[in-house]
Amino acid sequence: MIEAYRDRMPVEPGWTVVTLGEGGTPLLPAPHLSELTDCEVFLKVDGMNPTGSFKDRGMTMAVTAALAQGQQGVICASTGNTSASAAAYATRAGMTCAVLVPQGKIALGKLAQAVAHGARILQIDGNFDDCLELARKTAADYPVAALVNSVNPTRIAGQASAAYEICDVLGRAPDVHCLPVGNAGNITAYWAGYRAYLHDGLIAAPPRMFGYQAAGAAPLVHGAPVKNPETIATAIRIGSPASWAAATTARDDSDGRFAAVTDDEILAAYRLLSAREGVFVEPASAASVAGLLQSTADGTLPRGSLVVCTVTGHGLKDPDTVLLTAPSPTVVPIDPSAVAAALELA
Ligand code: F0G
Repeated sequence: MIEAYRDRMPVEPGWTVVTLGEGGTPLLPAPHLSELTDCEVFLKVDGMNPTGSFKDRGMTMAVTAALAQGQQGVICASTGNTSASAAAYATRAGMTCAVLVPQGKIALGKLAQAVAHGARILQIDGNFDDCLELARKTAADYPVAALVNSVNPTRIAGQASAAYEICDVLGRAPDVHCLPVGNAGNITAYWAGYRAYLHDGLIAAPPRMFGYQAAGAAPLVHGAPVKNPETIATAIRIGSPASWAAATTARDDSDGRFAAVTDDEILAAYRLLSAREGVFVEPASAASVAGLLQSTADGTLPRGSLVVCTVTGHGLKDPDTVLLTAPSPTVVPIDPSAVAAALELA
């Protein structure tokens, strides 16, 4: 649990911690991926957090701080997961929640979560970057709600807990850490976590940070913002990452890299994870594994490495993507012989 690392978080004495039991997610060996890459690969399954994504690690902190500061509500821009998480933690804290999302571009499960938790949902005729600018301005001009996007430093401190958990389970840091990158808060948080453990002598060396963006939304790869980002991985459909500078530092200081993965590569990794490893993730999460496979093929991943891929969000968030390409289930009468015939058991 992230609770185990609370002494590493900026929580003041007397604050009420707003928690839903986040953290402590599985670090799962990935035998098929290990075989394909000739590496030892683990999946950090952060879709197992309370609202189904890694955002909960940061949201517990951001909402805890907002409550301590006497805020009545929280506001955020989101491609879906941040809004689902903010809505749940705000509810837990007895606060209001307003979310700004790009119209028609967030996965159904995420929208359902924000609705279920009673958030005020405003759909914007624009992309995530427009939503974030609007949320920042609104929070600055109308200081009735705390901005809980990853530009909020308490979010980063909470998300660093995933790096602590990985090191504590492995007894060391991995050689390489693969991540999907959108607004670039998570890669910033992991790097902060690994550096903190290095500073405290808990690991001998940090990993190389490999960040993967969708090819149609790859500003960090191109070194310039992308005006109209486009990808099937709606969670990382972002053209102007807020944590640009910190993410670049993480890459440079760790001898890491940013690379782009196509939607086809993302979908292939998405299917491989569910069909071969038994781990159902949302498309954006599969970008880390698409990148792992790409860097195996192009030789940038040294064979024999200890690798962790974070899979950031649960597959149930986005049921449409899997059903889009899958055949419809067969309809059979209530009759064992019909079942046997349909399953070709005879
Ligand atoms: N994976 C998933 C499932 C995400 O939801 C996000 C970001 C990322 C990866 C990328 O993380 O932004 O820290 O680089 N989702 C945000 C949101 C933008 O609004 O839910 P990042």
